[in-house]
Amino acid sequence: MSDALLSFHSPGRVNLIGDHTDYTGGLVLPMAIDRYTTIRGRPMANKVRLQSQSEPKPVEFDLPVISPEKINPSWGRYVAGVAAEMQSHAHGFDGEVSCTIPIGAGLSSSAALEVATALALGDTSTPVERAKLCQRAEVRGVGVPCGIMDQLTVTSGIRDHALLIDCHELTISPVQLPTDVKVVVQFIAERKLTSSGYAERVAQCKAAEQIIGPLRLADLSSLSSISDQTVRRRARHVVSENQRVRDFAAMLHTGDIKSAGKLMIESHNSLDHDFETSTTQMNSAVESAIAQPGVFGARMTGGGFGGCIVILADAEARLDGWQVRAVNAASQID
Ligand code: GLA
Repeated sequence: MSDALLSFHSPGRVNLIGDHTDYTGGLVLPMAIDRYTTIRGRPMANKVRLQSQSEPKPVEFDLPVISPEKINPSWGRYVAGVAAEMQSHAHGFDGEVSCTIPIGAGLSSSAALEVATALALGDTSTPVERAKLCQRAEVRGVGVPCGIMDQLTVTSGIRDHALLIDCHELTISPVQLPTDVKVVVQFIAERKLTSSGYAERVAQCKAAEQIIGPLRLADLSSLSSISDQTVRRRARHVVSENQRVRDFAAMLHTGDIKSAGKLMIESHNSLDHDFETSTTQMNSAVESAIAQPGVFGARMTGGGFGGCIVILADAEARLDGWQVRAVNAASQID
């Protein structure tokens, strides 16, 4: 094992539009953002030991790890999930973790930790394979049946671009962000995907697919054959959201930011009424944001049930929250 001190950093992500579409193979349009999880340390044989800056107890386990879901402190389950998925390809690592992505904010602090871990433990696969590995790790370590959006954004981010991702084909088309707009994130309230209705939403989409086939191929007219009203509304969100993502990407290309902003508001309303993943607080935050001069659109972003809203605004607009920039994928920094 080399004794060199290594650093890996992994961005968070914000999703501009296309939420709760990834796990049915739909479309999403996120960007990797300039908030990072960083792992610094040295490779070592057969053992992982990571000290977080914010917790007294380190995460420590031997390789191969047998039950990642039982590791404590619990953030170590993401780390151990990755080690378990890498199997014999993982080497040990002794280091520390720091993070500037707010935890539980819907900005993919989990995916950032997973991807930084994969790099630190020696993963050399492609961005798509690394994202798939980290997605499996999350399911295995913490039991969240998440889609691929977060991990794929973190492994594939491109500076100054959002990523139009087809979550069925796993293809990525970079979409350049206009220079005269800004993306602002407002943190509303902490949420936990593990204790939210996320898994229930995944199951409801599956139920819809059993009746009308893949939602990514469905159109709104086919929804009338779903008799359960809740399942029908969930499906309506997904089908309409896929179309909004397509339209939003086209509008960014042509520079029609006003119309793109309107789609963000429609997306928010659909997540609120049909998918029921917004909250009263998030709704008020979106309402006040869109009332501000220079704001094109705003919506809840990510899994929901709390977390953040994302705002698209004129570069000169004065807003609370913090401006985020689109950055490159996770990588080794030295
Ligand atoms: C979470 C999941 C993603 C995605 C979003 C909602 O962030 O990890 O896979 O489903 O929620 O779009």
